[in-house]
Amino acid sequence: MAGLSFVNICKTYKNGQAVVKDFNLDIKDQEFLVLVGPSGCGKSTTLRMAAGLEEISSGELWIDGQLMNMTSPQSRDLSMVFQSYALYPHMTVYQNMAFSLKVHKIPKEETDRRVRRAAEILHISHLLERKPYELSGGQKQRVAIGSVIVRQPKAYLMDEPLSNLDASLRTQMRVELAKIHKKLGTTVIYVTHDQVEAMTLGTRIVVMDRGVIQQAAAPNDIYENPVNKFVAGFIGSPSMNFIIVQVVQENNRIYLEFGKNKLFINERSAKRLAEGSYMGKHVWLGIRPEDFHEKGPKEQELLLEIEMKEVLGAEILFHGHLGNTGVCVRLKPDIKAEAGESLSVYPDINRIKLFDMDSEQNILYI
Ligand SMILES: Nc1ncnc2c1ncn2[C@@H]1O[C@H](COP(=O)(O)OP(=O)(O)OP(=O)(O)O)[C@@H](O)[C@H]1O
Ligand SMILES: [Mg+2]
Repeated sequence: MAGLSFVNICKTYKNGQAVVKDFNLDIKDQEFLVLVGPSGCGKSTTLRMAAGLEEISSGELWIDGQLMNMTSPQSRDLSMVFQSYALYPHMTVYQNMAFSLKVHKIPKEETDRRVRRAAEILHISHLLERKPYELSGGQKQRVAIGSVIVRQPKAYLMDEPLSNLDASLRTQMRVELAKIHKKLGTTVIYVTHDQVEAMTLGTRIVVMDRGVIQQAAAPNDIYENPVNKFVAGFIGSPSMNFIIVQVVQENNRIYLEFGKNKLFINERSAKRLAEGSYMGKHVWLGIRPEDFHEKGPKEQELLLEIEMKEVLGAEILFHGHLGNTGVCVRLKPDIKAEAGESLSVYPDINRIKLFDMDSEQNILYI
């Protein structure tokens, strides 16, 4: 097990495109680091550079205190599950899973024990004698995970390892990965598009956009205290609503105005806006769908024009407009309101976010 350090890592592909820019990150021993960001932002490239499968254009990669830039992938002692995983087509599932152990000269009995244990965890014990062409996509993906977790390398690198599984299997595997991590204490770098995986597996989440780290923090910090509008909008599902509002001061009280709506804010937000000289200016107001309530003080009432509702069992998502802005509001399932009607909703003013119009930085960042 080991820590990894990325120091000023940059990647420019041969076509001149810079896809990872000045990436700095210290990953501690035993950390479960989750890397998220939009498609094409450089997640796989970062992982492949760590694994040694992609040349590092500049910067330094340290594993366990040793500079690794020039070290071959085999000698880095990392284990990687690829986004598009490759199995050896002529080998059985068992042989595929045992392969890396054979390469590392692990005795047969030990190999057998580890392969069978991993197969059990991944629910593929009944498939051990099959060849890859006899497997479904999700089964192949589990074999790929299996051939990685049989090893005890310095770190696991996993690129969307659960993306081909159905919802229930995905949940089971997520729990299994969390258990494996807890038991073995392995350092993990894990790429995912799945919000729940990111929030539940990660001891820390790194949010990337266009090759640049936007924020690296514990899951709850990222959710509660996003550094900017991008991170706020990226983490959370459905996404945070953003509304352009004007900051207005009247008789020593500060409120946010948009269309016919006035939203009085708490003291802390008012103080931050005053300190930043935002009076009379426009800012982005951010409210998560789950931060609206069906009851609240009159001066925080907003009128939602409902266009569509999605009944999800434990909750209802109302899609509609507040003034001119499209929003999504998540309420309890007993709320009776239909498309075409308007509904009074009340944002939790202690949970709203405010972002600068130009820099998009979080004005309320702690
Ligand atoms: N071998 C390559 N040569 C040139 N450009 C590449 C190469 N591999 C990837 N890219 C480009 O680098 C950027 C980052 O790609 P990367 O695969 O790291 O993204 P990603 O964050 O993993 O995306 P996704 O979520 O879709 O998997 C993309 O714009 C991609 O087109
Ligand atoms: Mg990728």
